[in-house]
Amino acid sequence: MKVLYVASEAQPFAASGGLADVAGSLPQAMRQRLIGCRVVMPLYESVPQELRDQMQFITSLSVPVAWRRQYCGVFEAKVGSVIYYLLDNQYYFKRKGLYGHYDDAERFAFFSRAVLEMLPYLDFKPDIINANDWQAALVPVYYDMFYSRNEWYSGIKTIFTIHNIQYQGKYGLELSEDVFGIPRDQRHIVEYDGCINLMKGAIETAHRVTTVSPTYAREILDPWFSHGLDPILREREWKLTGILNGIDTELYDPSTDGMIYRKYDCETFAEGKAENKRELQRRLYLPERPEVPLIGMVTRMVSHKGLDLVRDILDDLLYNNDIQFVILGSGDWEYESFFREMQERHKDKLVACFGYIPELSHKIYAAADLFLMPSKSEPCGLSQMLALRYGTIPIVRETGGLGDSITDSGDGEGNGFTFKSYSSGDMRYCIERAFMGFADKEGWSILVRRAMESDNSWGKSANAYIKLYKSLLKE
Ligand code: GLC
Repeated sequence: MKVLYVASEAQPFAASGGLADVAGSLPQAMRQRLIGCRVVMPLYESVPQELRDQMQFITSLSVPVAWRRQYCGVFEAKVGSVIYYLLDNQYYFKRKGLYGHYDDAERFAFFSRAVLEMLPYLDFKPDIINANDWQAALVPVYYDMFYSRNEWYSGIKTIFTIHNIQYQGKYGLELSEDVFGIPRDQRHIVEYDGCINLMKGAIETAHRVTTVSPTYAREILDPWFSHGLDPILREREWKLTGILNGIDTELYDPSTDGMIYRKYDCETFAEGKAENKRELQRRLYLPERPEVPLIGMVTRMVSHKGLDLVRDILDDLLYNNDIQFVILGSGDWEYESFFREMQERHKDKLVACFGYIPELSHKIYAAADLFLMPSKSEPCGLSQMLALRYGTIPIVRETGGLGDSITDSGDGEGNGFTFKSYSSGDMRYCIERAFMGFADKEGWSILVRRAMESDNSWGKSANAYIKLYKSLLKE
């Protein structure tokens, strides 16, 4: 079986969020299970030079983008046991940042079309194409429209994976022919609610749709979570499944992690975490106090991460408790400025760092005692699993993958602290329960060990994908 994994970002080449982690680690897990899995992504300007040096030029072709034809260079690079194809077109991809350009619609129409056009030039003919998120949503759409009846292509099965339903790729109808090259009589496939909606088109045309946790697969059938797509998904519920993501347990391993201050494992976490905490406190100019609970957050600062709840209570929480709080991330101005203000008001308790800084994020995972993730919705979430791996106890709202990976330790078995309703009062009560847990030193170290021993590797999930692919090929 051969699988082509299509993603707009993948570690280690280019990353802005969780998709890149998945595209960097799931294919490796497939290869370990002897599945021929390769990845294709755009060759962005930001791909580091040392990775460019390892790339080999394979071929070039000309790709139809509506009425234009555009150059596409195909490069290949091997990471671990996985081959990555990087698609080059400097007009579209030699720019700052991955997304957010005025012509993203055209850039990713080009990318999706190029993925299909390049196949006959490779020594790899996929049985399955797994396209991810709106940037690759046109892959199943174009496959269905232009390729499925072509002899060379026929028989390929397409899977579309939703990592976050909030970003659907919505554009004005006027782009349909001119930018996407979709003929008027086929426009209904991508048309929804008065716009072009690329994700809707992929849900209609892909042979199967997956999302990144079983709970999110149920949630998105409901308008509270679906950002308008629930009617479409309910009609096609038969093709929807949820498979929980795993994490890269090699990259994130406190016993080998070179980015943290001191390495540790299940036996040595007490001293290991203590030293990491002390060093982080020193670096961030926080009082070096081992005994206060340190809460960490590593997050994009956007509303669905539950920052409204944090904003409701943080001032009061810091005022009334002897704790420390470190947050790393960037995003919307309203949240960034809120955390700046908190830092001013609580200089010896809170530090806010802005940006996407992997090195610092590892240090926070290793140093913190608690990891807060009160998302309003969370398709899967990876940070809570990374926190577990580093023995940092997650406090999460039970939504999407957070509920699927974290269970409350109140029953003496779970690996974190959870709350249900999207309410700052409930979150606060949950945080205070965690403080009580932290105060009981003996119980806490049992919990930390249990957290570190939770298995969130790709094992189970990679097998679930493989099973899905195989069942599809039998049809
Ligand atoms: C998106 C989702 C996140 C998920 C990740 C990888 O970033 O918001 O919940 O873990 O994709 O699937």
